[in-house]
Amino acid sequence: MTQQPDVPEIARPLVRPRRLRTTPALRRMVAETSLEARQLVLPLFVREGLAEPQPISSMPGVVQHTRSSLLGAVSEAAELGLGGVMLFGIPERKDAVGSGAVDPAGILNLAITDVVAEVGDALTVMSDLCLDEFTDHGHCGVLTPDGRVDNDRTLEIYAEMARAQAHAGVDMVGPSGMMDGQVRVIRQALDAAEHTDVSILAYSAKYASAFYGPFREAVDSSLQGDRRTYQQDAANGLEGVREALLDVAEGADLVMVKPALAYLDVLRRVRDAVDVPVAAYNISGEYAMVEAAAAHGWIDREAAILETLTSIRRAGADVVLTYWASEVARLLAR
Ligand code: PBG
Repeated sequence: MTQQPDVPEIARPLVRPRRLRTTPALRRMVAETSLEARQLVLPLFVREGLAEPQPISSMPGVVQHTRSSLLGAVSEAAELGLGGVMLFGIPERKDAVGSGAVDPAGILNLAITDVVAEVGDALTVMSDLCLDEFTDHGHCGVLTPDGRVDNDRTLEIYAEMARAQAHAGVDMVGPSGMMDGQVRVIRQALDAAEHTDVSILAYSAKYASAFYGPFREAVDSSLQGDRRTYQQDAANGLEGVREALLDVAEGADLVMVKPALAYLDVLRRVRDAVDVPVAAYNISGEYAMVEAAAAHGWIDREAAILETLTSIRRAGADVVLTYWASEVARLLAR
């Protein structure tokens, strides 16, 4: 070994943050943010009339489930100790008012009952409360004669949808349509039907996003155009806080920011502004970007997934909805 020359006094730091990064044990001990299975919620798609699970090409590894394959996925989620599952239903027939959403024999309502029978209280069973999977025009609400989304007529249907989902046995409903007043109307409908224990995860700050692309394939959406008259503009952060505060005032038990990655600042602001748990949705396009880059060998897939979810937790999410939930729970357990 050659003798290293002495470092001049002036170059010797007084404070060395690097000391806390010396070993894996030390880094683990001082980590500010944790990622735990209980904080993760797995979104699942179930499609009416399907004989075999159907791959979703823009979301490699994610499928549209049959009623029976769905049960395998939820029992695995329960064994892994996930926080919950969020169910999306895809009906065989869509129509202008989304009839399948309020039909007690509609695919989502049947799936809720199946899933609750399978896992009982081992998981929080949640359902998307929105019309876009059920309407032939693909919008989250019903339309006026001139083609605009009719806020107040849609609320009446959301109330009926909430009752149907609660009757099917759901633990928590997730209104995601961004209609004004939806949380209040749903809370009132649930309470009036004696479903006071069914809680509401409000998709409060939900932005009109290009990153929902793969989800459109996942639910066979027929949407033309966009959702900019009801979902929020990417330019607005304060408005996200306003929406979250309104939803808490209307009775939301949890509020959500969605998408996650392009809105981590909004997530932080909402976390600081409300006194209920905050969720974030690591959405389809965020999933697809990592999967696509990893498939090319351009990034380290597992490391990118863990870094993504950690960033969402660090920004303030207590709960994270992610298509990687089960895989990550397995990674964390090893
Ligand atoms: C609406 C809903 C959407 C998503 C979840 N709930 C689509 C939209 O609002 O356009 C997107 C989820 C994802 O992209 O992973 N029912």
